[in-house]
Amino acid sequence: MMRRVLVLSTWVLLLTACGVVSAFDGGDTVRVYSGRHYDLEEAFLAFAEDTGVSVEFLFGGDAELRERLQAEADQTSADVFMTVDAANLQIAAEEGLLQPTDSEVLETAVPPNLRHPDGLWFGLSKRVRTIVYHPDRVDPSELSTYEDLADPRWSGRLCMRNSTNVYTQSLVASLIAHHGYEEALDVVRGWVDNDTQIINSDVQILETIAAGGCDVGITNHYYLARLLAEDPSFPVRIFWANQGDRGVHVNISGAGVTTWADDPDQAVTLLEWLATDGQEEFVYGNHEYPVNPEVPPPPIPAQWGTFKEDPLNAAEFAALNADAIRLMEEAGYD
Ligand SMILES: [Fe+2]
Repeated sequence: MMRRVLVLSTWVLLLTACGVVSAFDGGDTVRVYSGRHYDLEEAFLAFAEDTGVSVEFLFGGDAELRERLQAEADQTSADVFMTVDAANLQIAAEEGLLQPTDSEVLETAVPPNLRHPDGLWFGLSKRVRTIVYHPDRVDPSELSTYEDLADPRWSGRLCMRNSTNVYTQSLVASLIAHHGYEEALDVVRGWVDNDTQIINSDVQILETIAAGGCDVGITNHYYLARLLAEDPSFPVRIFWANQGDRGVHVNISGAGVTTWADDPDQAVTLLEWLATDGQEEFVYGNHEYPVNPEVPPPPIPAQWGTFKEDPLNAAEFAALNADAIRLMEEAGYD
């Protein structure tokens, strides 16, 4: 089932604390196309207050925004393309929509595995896609890796996200990067053979586990954090996958400067601010992890302690996106 996100037809103009900034004054305004919807207004307002530069942004689906950029080309007023998932950023890079950025601030704030090697895009928040379970029906000692969920003892007990979802694609792409195509195919076939229930929403996966519809799932960490923020007794726990080997799969949301940015330096200023002074503002509202190692995690993820992260470069699994889609089709994974 396709979920379409409506592209707004008008720019959303954020006002600086000192008053109205005209929408197209050609002055200190950065314009952002964003496929990320989490708490952006607050972060952009704080940026405007900090720097005096206002932000206008347009929300949309990733593919729609990329198409729009492609069509507008040098006529676009978008300076920054922002979105979730490294695969979406990488597709924009491969389509020539982003230009390289050379910034010492960004290179210091964002670890090398969370940004494009040529500076075409930078991760600005981390989202961990890991195993979640019902504590009454699963003992955490039974859990270990994504691969182990292909074992027949999990038959009829799993809930996972659909194959058209980019989070699933990136997780499977990371399996290909680590094991090669054939071995990754065996893992995904194992999930299929276990009659995994495919659900088109991370929140619904968590709710299904809570309601007893399955015992174990794979979701992004912040969806559980959100549910726990509403109800601290929500009966689902998080388990960090693959701690005995490569570490848990980490994805990003991030941004890059568009090829046709009117003022690339100002666009870079926004990216730098989001990765440094604005990190808390940017990641805390959605319970994400900062990319900047200097910034502590928000309260609920902080309670979950530290863990080993898969150091695989986001650009590497992002580049395997098409292979991951093909693999899931071959495996019969919906
Ligand atoms: Fe999400």
